[in-house]
Parts: sequence; structure tokens; C-alpha cells
Amino acid sequence: MVNCRPGTFLDLISMQNCNLTNLPENYSMRFYLYHYLVNPEMIQIAELPHSHKVIGYVMSRMQERNNIQKEPPYGGITSVSILRTYRKMGIAHRLMRCAHRAMGEIYGAEYVSLHVRETNTAAKHLYLKTMGYHLHEPHIEYYADGETAYELHCSTKRELFEHVSRKYRAKDGNQQTGEPGGGEGKSKKRRKKK
Ligand SMILES: CC(C)(COP(=O)(O)OP(=O)(O)OC[C@H]1O[C@@H](n2cnc3c(N)ncnc32)[C@H](O)[C@@H]1OP(=O)(O)O)[C@@H](O)C(=O)NCCC(=O)NCCS
Repeated sequence: MVNCRPGTFLDLISMQNCNLTNLPENYSMRFYLYHYLVNPEMIQIAELPHSHKVIGYVMSRMQERNNIQKEPPYGGITSVSILRTYRKMGIAHRLMRCAHRAMGEIYGAEYVSLHVRETNTAAKHLYLKTMGYHLHEPHIEYYADGETAYELHCSTKRELFEHVSRKYRAKDGNQQTGEPGGGEGKSKKRRKKK
């Protein structure tokens, strides 16, 4: 079982290694450090339980808004990477859900935006099919090599709903119920009996 946890300063070198082996867009250590200092809660790490080897990460951030009155707060995914040996095990999916929840809970992000290469089949499947992102806008020649990017958006409502319903079940002393909202039904039944 892989552990997913918030990243710390000590993870930055391992994250850079994951990125260098996987993606054409690489970042300097100064970039990682700056990202960590500005958004310390916005790094999610996947690690092996015994060796603590970092096998993947998601870096996210809150986006600056041009018009604070009209635009809702929203987040962005800066980079996602899972080491080859550990792919197709649902790790990116888990990390992405944690990232959505952190952005929604801590900063009130209503949705998350990201860019993906037109030819990146694996990432497009993760975002569009598994996570429920939708196409917002294509950007022609977005990348330095001329490839088109798809700008995708996804609401954070699902993660926030799941978190609130978990908290509700815990308060109700009924953490074991499987479905979100399951605690509510049981507590009503108990109240009726009294
Ligand atoms: C894209 C990436 C992060 C996916 O990581 P992962 O841990 O393998 O993804 P998951 O196991 O959570 O899989 C999520 C879904 O994508 C699907 N998927 C994963 N790799 C796939 C591939 N190569 N082709 C088609 N679908 C793929 C999985 O089957 C799963 O689908 P399901 O929910 O319908 O079962 C990983 O391939 C990677 O690190 N790629 C290089 C870096 C990169 O491209 N980052 C994204 C930049 S925008």
C-alpha cells in the first residue's frame, strides 16, 4: 500500500527527480523551493511505506484573479508525475483528489484548472475520464515545441462534499458507514426510536 501525504521541504529533491525522468517541462530547484514557500499545503506526495521512497507527486497552487469581485477563487495544477514502475495503480488519481480537497478546503477554490498536451493520452484519461475534468479551451502552439494544450477545468465540489459528510459521520460516532451521507440516515433512525 502506497502512502499519500502532504509534501515537505525535504521532499523537493525527490520530486525534482520524478519530474526529470518523466516530463519535458523541467523546473529548477529554485522553482520548487519558491512553490513550497508560497504554497506549503499544495504539494501531495506518494511514497513507499517502508523505504519512504517518493514515487510521485502533485503540485498545485491558487491562481491569481484579475477581477476578485467577479471571478471565484480557483486553483491550478502545476505538475503531476508518477514514476513509471508505479503507474496505472490509481496513485495519480488519489493524489489529485487530495490536491482538489486542499485547494477547496484551505483556499475556498471552486474549481481547478490545468493544461495538458494534446498527445498525452495517459494524462487526458486521468483528467477527463477518471477525474471528471471538461474541456474549457484549446490553446494552439502553447508549448515551446509547438504542441497544442487543452485547458481543462473541474469543480472541487465532489471532494468537499465527501469531506463534510465524513466529518458529519465522525461527529455522529458512525465513521464506518460506506457511502457519503450514510451517517445522516442512521442518525435520523436513532432519533425516531427515542
Ligand atoms: C499521467 C500520469 C500522472 C498518470 O499516473 P497514474 O498513477 O498511472 O494514473 P492512475 O493510475 O491514477 O490512472 C488514472 C486513469 O488513467 C488511466 N491511465 C493511466 N495511464 C494510462 C495510459 N498510459 N493510457 C491510457 N490510460 C491510462 C488509468 O487506467 C486510470 O483509468 P480508470 O480510472 O478508467 O481506471 C502518469 O502516466 C505520469 O506520470 N506521466 C508522465 C508525467 C505526465 O504526463 N504528467 C501529466 C502532465 S499534464
